[in-house]
Amino acid sequence: MKYLAASALLFQATVLAGPIIEARQRQDFAVFTGVSSFRGQGCEGATVTYDEINQVATVIYPNYGVVIPQGPREESCSTTLQVRFPVGECTSGTAIGRATGTVNVPVGVTAFFSTRDYAIQPTIGTITDVSPNGQWTGPRSEDYVLQDNIGYTLTPPNAQNSLVNFTVFGDLSLQPQNGPVGSLSNRQFVFDIRTQIPC
Ligand SMILES: *[C@@H]1O[C@H](CO)[C@@H](O)[C@H](O)[C@H]1NC(C)=O
Repeated sequence: MKYLAASALLFQATVLAGPIIEARQRQDFAVFTGVSSFRGQGCEGATVTYDEINQVATVIYPNYGVVIPQGPREESCSTTLQVRFPVGECTSGTAIGRATGTVNVPVGVTAFFSTRDYAIQPTIGTITDVSPNGQWTGPRSEDYVLQDNIGYTLTPPNAQNSLVNFTVFGDLSLQPQNGPVGSLSNRQFVFDIRTQIPC
């Protein structure tokens, strides 16, 4: 009897604690604002969706790909996602970027996903990114994942500087461009800012 009563109380306490913790997170944590922009031919038709707490952005690129012999043989795209940080508070975190797509190259053809790096604006803090380029020498035929780690420490001094743009660059190409056949695509990019630590 005693055990039952205790577990019923615990259950009630857990139910009550749930929404309170969630409300606090929404207030004090960095979130996507929903403002995004795309530059470059590869970005044509790109769309972005967010999870319900606005900390995971999923970008779909219907046209970010290169193919020989018909072309396009080279395409770039820079994707900007805007994040709102708590004003006057230091936020430290590691954002995870994940680019996925497919590569198909025969012997003698190499596929490149190059100039991958991140920029933040305005520059109100420090950022260190590890964003590996992709390079596949044929014969290769696979789905790939490139994972990025973007460490940052930011303290927005005022509301105007609390909206921070994260821009990721990238360029797809195949070599040699007069090769027989081959393709490389980047279909999806997921940017996850859930790992945040007050500092
Ligand atoms: C961030 O990106 C948005 C959308 O492209 C743009 O309107 C805004 O001016 C940018 N902000 C900064 C600080 O670059």
